[in-house]
Amino acid sequence: MARIFSGIQPSGTLHVGNYLGAVRQWAATQADGDALYCIVDLHALTLDIAPDELRARTLDTAIGLLGAGLDPDVCTLFVQSHVPEHTELTWLLECTASYGELRRMTQFKEKGAGQESVRAGLLTYPVLMAADILVYDAEHVPVGDDQRQHLELARTLAARFNTRYGDTFVVPEAVIPAIGARVMDLQQPTRKMSKSTATPLGTIAMTDPPEEIVRKVRKAVTDVGNDVAYDPDTKPGISNLLELLAAATGGSPAQLAAGYSSYGQLKNDVADALVELLAPVRRRIAELEADPGTVHAILDKGSHKAHGLATPVLDRARAAVGLTARRP
Ligand code: AMP
Ligand code: TRP
Repeated sequence: MARIFSGIQPSGTLHVGNYLGAVRQWAATQADGDALYCIVDLHALTLDIAPDELRARTLDTAIGLLGAGLDPDVCTLFVQSHVPEHTELTWLLECTASYGELRRMTQFKEKGAGQESVRAGLLTYPVLMAADILVYDAEHVPVGDDQRQHLELARTLAARFNTRYGDTFVVPEAVIPAIGARVMDLQQPTRKMSKSTATPLGTIAMTDPPEEIVRKVRKAVTDVGNDVAYDPDTKPGISNLLELLAAATGGSPAQLAAGYSSYGQLKNDVADALVELLAPVRRRIAELEADPGTVHAILDKGSHKAHGLATPVLDRARAAVGLTARRP
């Protein structure tokens, strides 16, 4: 069975971009392999986040993932910082990566831009991400399009390490959905919908009630002209709505465009489709929110299992670079 691994930051409310770009796919394919899904709390420390907020968001993210359909009897759901092998392997990989290749990462440049002081962890962020993946011998990594470059780096580091020290790591592959891989902000359709930077009206949370979804879709920024056509370059607003409709109901954005003669009609259908798509998720989230003890127990079980898988891979990497074996 193929080993599947992916991660998500607990830095904000899970939104429709997370759902369509990543989490829906995680739920749909969790039984196709031996799947591990990780709440990457250490990654959240690369930007400013209050301790209480990090704690609360970590639990919320677990609830969101379970609500979105992850089944703890089928996959392994756990918290990154509970498995110390991730950070230990990060050091070995930091000594494999170069400063130049980390500095060139698009997300580092975007997130660091305009900040007076950039945390060193923001630079090494993709190395920790590579360690997350490599420490489980993961073969498939389902992510949204924004993680493509980080995945390429993980592959480069695995291959470089293997060349330098002998075959140690599996070289992972990104799995990116054809539609929904890049959901844009409804108010600024040239920017991706994001937990940290998006506008409140431009982001649809997985937990938004129906009337909120309808309101946000109605207020979505559209483009000049009034013909409904799929062209992300010249009509980013309408194209994003068509992508959302396609991702929620099937079909292709260009084909769906042909069925509409007005923006209003399209917006009504997008809102209806999203309300229907998210209703069961929202219902399950409400149930789990009433039972945090169960959620913590799921995470504990997941961390225990993950730890058992990571230990032998880390030992393999330690031996490969020439670190003396630790005596029990
Ligand atoms: P993050 O919230 O940045 O930890 O991302 C968690 C997962 O959601 C990753 O696989 C991302 O690629 C995916 N993702 C985040 N934002 C979007 C978006 N706007 N559209 C599609 N996928 C996204
Ligand atoms: N960097 C990813 C994001 O922001 C989250 C992440 C951390 C991840 N480690 C990972 C995704 C390992 C896939 C595999 O979306």
